[in-house]
Amino acid sequence: MDDGSTNSQELDASGKANFDSIYTADTPQPYLNVMRQLDYRIPTEAQAYIEHLVSRYSAAHPNQQEVHVLDIGTSYGINGALLKWNLSLVDFCDHYLTDGYSDLPLAQRDLHNQQLCLGRSPRSNIKVIGLDISKPALDFGLETGLLDHSVCVDLEKHSADDTQAEQIKQSDCLISTGCLGYVSEVSLRKIIELCAPNKPWMAHCLLRMFPLEPYRKLFESCGYRVWLSDEILPQRRFASAEEKKQVLDSLHQQGIDTTGYESGDYLWARVFYVVPDDLPDESWKFSVGLKNEQ
Ligand SMILES: C[S@@+](CC[C@H](N)C(=O)[O-])C[C@H]1O[C@@H](n2cnc3c(N)ncnc32)[C@H](O)[C@@H]1O
Repeated sequence: MDDGSTNSQELDASGKANFDSIYTADTPQPYLNVMRQLDYRIPTEAQAYIEHLVSRYSAAHPNQQEVHVLDIGTSYGINGALLKWNLSLVDFCDHYLTDGYSDLPLAQRDLHNQQLCLGRSPRSNIKVIGLDISKPALDFGLETGLLDHSVCVDLEKHSADDTQAEQIKQSDCLISTGCLGYVSEVSLRKIIELCAPNKPWMAHCLLRMFPLEPYRKLFESCGYRVWLSDEILPQRRFASAEEKKQVLDSLHQQGIDTTGYESGDYLWARVFYVVPDDLPDESWKFSVGLKNEQ
């Protein structure tokens, strides 16, 4: 996959293409190359929802100077770029997919990395904590300023150590794009327990092939309420005919109608909000396209 080819794509256990090798490079170039080829767009599609979450959280906590947003499966920090630096995915790709970037000597590459945010003012009231299993991706996010803090841990398999727990505990909001599926309710439970008695508010994107139910069960058992958006968002193109077949099989086995969605060229996702269950309903009523699927 490092060459950006998506032809002989290996599939993971869920039937989705396996991109592990591009998540751990020192630069985001291999990741962006492949994702641009597949029109990966979920961070952009989810942006308004994430903004909505953070602005609703801020409005409900007017005395809080800073909002700490934990981006789970943050990778190279693209959500941080969008949320904190007002950059677009196109800006990000244009900056790193320039000819010769990966051939630059290390010092020049560092300089180029830092130039992404040059001349821009970050939203200083937002602190982004990136959580991922890829140290190179997190280091890149810190170096560029897209992330304020990083936590490198696989909570599917391990517990957070004391330092990681301290970072996670700061979280006011949890967000994720393109990583639920890799990240199950096992990790989310650990994060919720570390944050207790605080209850971070959340917005997550979930591919339609992955059932919401295990996540919903966890959240409801922890005193949360789940609000599922009506809108269905394109995540990316299928990486191969084989991936499409596996995904369609999985969706059809779950009784999901794929007409107009996965029957075409793209994988599709839904966004859900998770908020404390004692929050008045009115908080979310004005949101266009939201319905409570209790
Ligand atoms: C498709 S990328 C999404 C990256 C980013 N959120 C975006 O939308 O651009 C999935 C990310 O999940 C990360 N990941 C995989 N397993 C994980 C785990 N158990 N815990 C945290 N992150 C994980 C990968 O390293 C990768 O960076």
